[in-house]
Parts: sequence; C-alpha cells; structure tokens
Amino acid sequence: MGRVRVGVLISGRGSNLQTLIQAAQAPDYPAEIAYVIANVADAKGLDHAERAGIPACVISHKDFADRAAFDAALDAALRKAKIEIVCLAGFMRLLGKKFTEDWRDRVLNIHPSLLPAFPGLDTHRKAIEAGVKISGCTVHLVRPELDDGPILIQAAVPVAEDDTPETLAARVLEVEHRCYPLALRLLAAGAIRVTGKTTRHGATAPKGSLLNPGGTG
Ligand code: GRF
Repeated sequence: MGRVRVGVLISGRGSNLQTLIQAAQAPDYPAEIAYVIANVADAKGLDHAERAGIPACVISHKDFADRAAFDAALDAALRKAKIEIVCLAGFMRLLGKKFTEDWRDRVLNIHPSLLPAFPGLDTHRKAIEAGVKISGCTVHLVRPELDDGPILIQAAVPVAEDDTPETLAARVLEVEHRCYPLALRLLAAGAIRVTGKTTRHGATAPKGSLLNPGGTG
C-alpha cells in the first residue's frame, strides 16, 4: 500500500518538521513528508525540507486580503501536491472554519502544554506563573477554535522550581519530538477513531514508545 502523503506547515525553526522527516525515513512508517509550506519566507525550517529534497514553498499571509483567501491558497497548494494529511508544526496562523471543516480529522497540531491548560501563546511562562508541577505537550486534531480538538497523544514533563520559560520549553520540546511522529503514525495508519472530543487508537504502538513504554504487545 502507498504511504500517506503529508504536508507540513511551518512558520519558524522547524525542529518538529525535522523529527517527522526523520521518522518517515523508516521503511515501515505509513506516511511520507511530501510537501512543506511556510508562511514566512525566512523560516529556518525550510532548510530541513531542502536538505531532505522535499518540495517546499512560501505562501505569505501578507499577500492575501483576509484569512479566507490565505486559507484557500493553502488548500489549493496542498491539493495540487496531492496531500492527504496536514501537520501544523510551529505554524503561527489560525486556520478558519472552512479549511478546518474541509480537512476535518486530517489536520494535526502540536502544542507545548497539556491542553486544555494554557492554550495560545506564551505557554511556558503561563505554566510557570500558574505554579504547575507538571507540563508537557499535546498532539490534537485541529478544529476552528485555537488549540482545541480531539487529543491523540500527550506526554508530561516535570516543572522545576528554577525553570525559566526557556528551560521548560527545551524539556517539553524533547517529548514533542517523540509524540509528533507517533501521533502521525497512528493517524496515517488509519488507527484513530474520533467520537466527539475523544479519540481511540486500535493500533499496537511500537515497543518502547510513549504508548507502550514497557515494550509489550
Ligand atoms: C513547538 O514548541 C510547538 O509545540 C509549537 O511551536 C513550537 C515549534 O517549534 N506549536 P519547531 O518550529 O517545531 O522547532
């Protein structure tokens, strides 16, 4: 069976893009990273796409009159590239209702907190100021509301007493890089069942992964 074609949308550094590219190099991975779109011309993540030989383009939101026109341009580019699943990886634009409904259950986002806690920007500062002892990351299906939608995977990390937003971000990023490839694997393999806000996955997760840490099954 052919692998699912995935488009990744970025605005910046692209470290999550890079982990998806690396994961997709495994012969048994059910998805290939087939296209990258940045909405910022100098997004560093574009270098990862270039090094991997993945087609990429820049579609700047500034070139469009409104969100609907920008979303339509993204949609057209993704369809032209025959993309089946979209991963938002540090993509700093909200997608509108039409786009999220046209691509329902086929768009993933990663957020650096344990949603529904701390949606939006400045996540790590908010978590530290709230005094939480645990933070983490969430991979979820995208809905029109910001950082909302059925959750596929979460992973937790401790918050240290002397953490700054930067040190906490670095600790969370390590688990982001483990969660995102795993969540995409499950979605691309057709293992995710969505009911309302909840998801279930019927697949046996790879041994030693976050969903199967003991390595059974
Ligand atoms: C990550 O922390 C992600 O959770 C958030 O934006 C950051 C992007 O980092 N949405 P990178 O561009 O993938 O390195």
